Amino acid sequence: MRNNAKKIKIIRSPLALQKFSQKMLAQGKSIGLVPTMGALHKGHISLVKMSVKNNDITIASIFVNPTQFGANEDFAKYPRRLLTDAKLCSEAGADIVFAPQPKDMYPLPLQTFIHNPALETLYCGKYRPTHFAGVLSVVAKLFNIALPSRAYFGEKDFQQLHVIRKMAFDLNFPVKVIGAKTIREKSGLAMSSRNEYLSPKERAAASSIYAGLLEAKKRYAQGEFSVAKLKGIIKEKIERAGGKIQYVEIVDKRDLMPVASVSPKSVILLACHFGKTRLIDHLCLI
Ligand code: PAJ
Repeated sequence: MRNNAKKIKIIRSPLALQKFSQKMLAQGKSIGLVPTMGALHKGHISLVKMSVKNNDITIASIFVNPTQFGANEDFAKYPRRLLTDAKLCSEAGADIVFAPQPKDMYPLPLQTFIHNPALETLYCGKYRPTHFAGVLSVVAKLFNIALPSRAYFGEKDFQQLHVIRKMAFDLNFPVKVIGAKTIREKSGLAMSSRNEYLSPKERAAASSIYAGLLEAKKRYAQGEFSVAKLKGIIKEKIERAGGKIQYVEIVDKRDLMPVASVSPKSVILLACHFGKTRLIDHLCLI
């Protein structure tokens, strides 16, 4: 462990964390929460560092949440390495790692879910129909357990950040939801725990995702406002590298609704496969 690492505490019990947070709040301390599913990389750690900078206490949660995975998805094989993750959180200055087991979070099967019917069936939700209800419900639980003043999420999962913000607003959670920039590999590939599934060849080819997004942004800056043409540019770049597009959409970043013509308020959202691995990315057009 490096010298700047402080001793980190791993808490497994939701009740124990809630009690800890209540105590911290009673002492007037601010709490930052960074929810993750572990297998941490520099993208996650950038969120932890942001929280450490702006809060008295930082809690990183590490929980591979079963309710947000579909039946045929990668829940079982999702990488799990708590001790390495805890060390990374410690080096980044976090105080607590909250690492519950599914039985701690779901002692009984969950019956109460949070839905966003307007958005949970669009884009990623079209291909992962139960995903966003699983995410929103677990994030609501994490907010109620960790009692954060601020919670940090990556723009990497652009639709997820949007629906979490909307949930916090709609349901008056006393939490400031903070979005953070996407951290990328040198190749441009957005960092993701799922990149570990890629073969070296697939990983190299997957750099075409960001290259395609940048190409579309360049063409937009040169005066191309057609949604179809810009989508076509991205599709061609990814498909030529051997990727399979699931969707490419250009939407208004304020409400995630599709746009008829591209503007500085637009964001491109996409999902594609390289081999068996599903990857998502986005790019804002300003
Ligand atoms: P996970 O995929 O582990 O991501 C945890 C957080 O890290 C999310 O807010 C995600 O957007 C952010 N993140 C991932 N890759 C990033 C990158 N390259 N740059 C910046 N931030 C990045 O997203 C989840 O977990 C779960 O759905 C969760 C919100 C924890 C609910 O279970």
